[in-house]
Amino acid sequence: MSTSPARLESVARLFGDVYGTLPNSLADAPGRVEVIGNHTDYNGGSVVGAALERGTAVAMGLRADGRIRLISDTRQEAVPVETTMTSFTSERLPDWCAYPLGVIDEARLNGWVPEGAGLDLTIHSTLPIGAGLASSAALELAVAGALVPLFFEAGNEPGTEMLVAAAHRAENRFVGMPCGLLDQTVVGHAREDHLIVMDAATNRHDVVPIPSSLGFVLFQSHVSHALVTSPYEERHRECRQALMGLQRFIPGLRHLASVHPADLDAYGSVLETRPRMRAQHVVEEQVRVLAFQEALRNGKRETAGALMSASHESSRLLFDNSTPELDVLVASASQQENVLGARLSGGGWGGTVVALVRDTFSDHQAESICDTYEELFEVRPHWWRSRACRGLVQERL
Ligand code: GLA
Repeated sequence: MSTSPARLESVARLFGDVYGTLPNSLADAPGRVEVIGNHTDYNGGSVVGAALERGTAVAMGLRADGRIRLISDTRQEAVPVETTMTSFTSERLPDWCAYPLGVIDEARLNGWVPEGAGLDLTIHSTLPIGAGLASSAALELAVAGALVPLFFEAGNEPGTEMLVAAAHRAENRFVGMPCGLLDQTVVGHAREDHLIVMDAATNRHDVVPIPSSLGFVLFQSHVSHALVTSPYEERHRECRQALMGLQRFIPGLRHLASVHPADLDAYGSVLETRPRMRAQHVVEEQVRVLAFQEALRNGKRETAGALMSASHESSRLLFDNSTPELDVLVASASQQENVLGARLSGGGWGGTVVALVRDTFSDHQAESICDTYEELFEVRPHWWRSRACRGLVQERL
């Protein structure tokens, strides 16, 4: 499994091969797993995540001619995509370029990039794309992290908080994906062997140790998703409709996730069916996220696992963001003795299932879950044990 130092080395080598010179900065950002807290972030709720071993590294070199060149070893282009600092916002470039260029645009709008500056970038990634593991946020944060040493003196750099905000704005504004702050927060701030607990109502996060007797195992279904073209935006809209409907009855209500379940029972009937179902998912998920944290604090592993499985059920029945493939992975994982709970991770509509397991969970058990999947879908899913890693790393060269 590739680690951050190995990725940094590879991306620097790629830079030399492509541009024939050394980069000025390197950065690496991991993917993330969403442990629990599904579609709560843009509803002002709480969510728990952790960073993965897999991630994306960026090497960057400064140019003095306003040109931008970028190449990624996971994409089609055999030669770098070329554009300029002044023209990229209006050009039609390959879709993936929106992530790095969106961050560069944010940096420009923030006044970080001096007149006339240009950039060379190489991108190396070990993260599967469209697997619900925040490959977009990893790329955004790695670009933001590599930009900083080019334009700021050591000791005077913007902190991770600002880079997280810039990456998030780039995704909302430039890419056009109305995501919440979960991915960028975990990818930016994650710590080894810890969970990140984010409260989207305040945009604050806590760092919580993972009990050593627990582990996470990931199963990647063969259905990949692109959130930009998924029903994500539609869900966002349905949640907003639900919020607006409930605000007529609950004075001062700001976020859907802060609706009390009893209030949803009392007033939910004023909502149309779909917004009501989405609201029920969000409101109950918020309760589950808080209960999950309490269960971990009190060493109640079974309860924590059951909450994850309940989250998946709610995705399946109320939020309608699961798929038959994810359901099979969750159902067959749940039958294994050392699995405490399992659920889809991230936006949904494909991607990855995360299982909370006892440390006695064996490779044989994982293979048996994959057997069941393969019998039904004729493809073998990838699986791996995920260790919680640190977030963004930056290097000035
Ligand atoms: C995607 C988004 C996050 C969050 C999850 C669902 O990963 O980027 O902001 O909304 O989906 O919880």
